[in-house]
Amino acid sequence: MEGLSIHAGRVAVITGASRGLGAGMAETFAGQGMHLGLCARARPESPDWAPALTASVDVTDADAVDAFAGAVAERFGRIDLWVNNAGVLAPIGPLADADPEEVRRHFDANVLGVVHGTGAFARQVRGQPEGGVLVNISSGAAATPYEGWAVYCASKAAVEMLTEVVALEELPAGLRAYALAPGVVDTDMQTLIRSSTEEAFPDVRRFRRLKQEGRFNSADWVARFILDRCLGAAGSDGPADVAGAVRLRVPDEPGGI
Ligand SMILES: NC(=O)c1ccc[n+]([C@@H]2O[C@H](COP(=O)([O-])OP(=O)(O)OC[C@H]3O[C@@H](n4cnc5c(N)ncnc54)[C@H](OP(=O)(O)O)[C@@H]3O)[C@@H](O)[C@H]2O)c1
Repeated sequence: MEGLSIHAGRVAVITGASRGLGAGMAETFAGQGMHLGLCARARPESPDWAPALTASVDVTDADAVDAFAGAVAERFGRIDLWVNNAGVLAPIGPLADADPEEVRRHFDANVLGVVHGTGAFARQVRGQPEGGVLVNISSGAAATPYEGWAVYCASKAAVEMLTEVVALEELPAGLRAYALAPGVVDTDMQTLIRSSTEEAFPDVRRFRRLKQEGRFNSADWVARFILDRCLGAAGSDGPADVAGAVRLRVPDEPGGI
């Protein structure tokens, strides 16, 4: 663990922390001495040295998300940072060919899951004098129309807009809300992208090239951006930078990884 950080003792929740970006961010937060609430459908492993509450939670289940928020707040006394990271990419391919049931499951996870996490955290923050910081993980796909990703583009665009609205609604309660596009991170989701056919996803070559060139953001780089830019120097920074600054993109990591 690093020397004492300004974030030591702060409490962070990450959804979708069983692997990929969520698991990587949990390691960085743990290294900063933060206390963690980690969930996914597969119960996440907690970094050895961090006080952590881990649970199997499907974010499509509003009651389960609420119960997890309550359990984390009870264990650690409050929640300073909540990262809605859980998400899926499929279905990939033209919208007209998509299986409606798979489309429904996608929106359940990527939109309703974020709605449930956002609501649960906002209700928690309303009772916290120190406020709280919400980070909803978005994507460049929220603003760029990629052929073959209609459902993913739409779900991330929904995440960005709901985040902007909640940032306004919960301003008086001391909630600061951000929609954050993390850049390209080499996870199972990227493996799935690279395995797409050009018919299903015409841009697939670009993502294969990124792999060859190793041009990715690390989860650690994304986590540090969240701590520096979103959580900031104090848990109760106030809402001064909310207007016009809700949608953020993590810059490319120098040299990739
Ligand atoms: N990787 C990238 O380049 C990239 C770029 C832009 C945005 N993003 C976004 O970053 C986030 C993380 O992606 P990733 O690349 O780390 O993907 P990943 O490796 O596929 O991991 C996704 C995580 O979400 C969890 N999850 C999925 N559905 C869930 C559900 N219904 N309930 C609870 N947890 C669920 C998974 O755990 P279980 O399967 O155990 O539930 C897993 O921990 C996503 O929101 C993604 O859209 C990623």
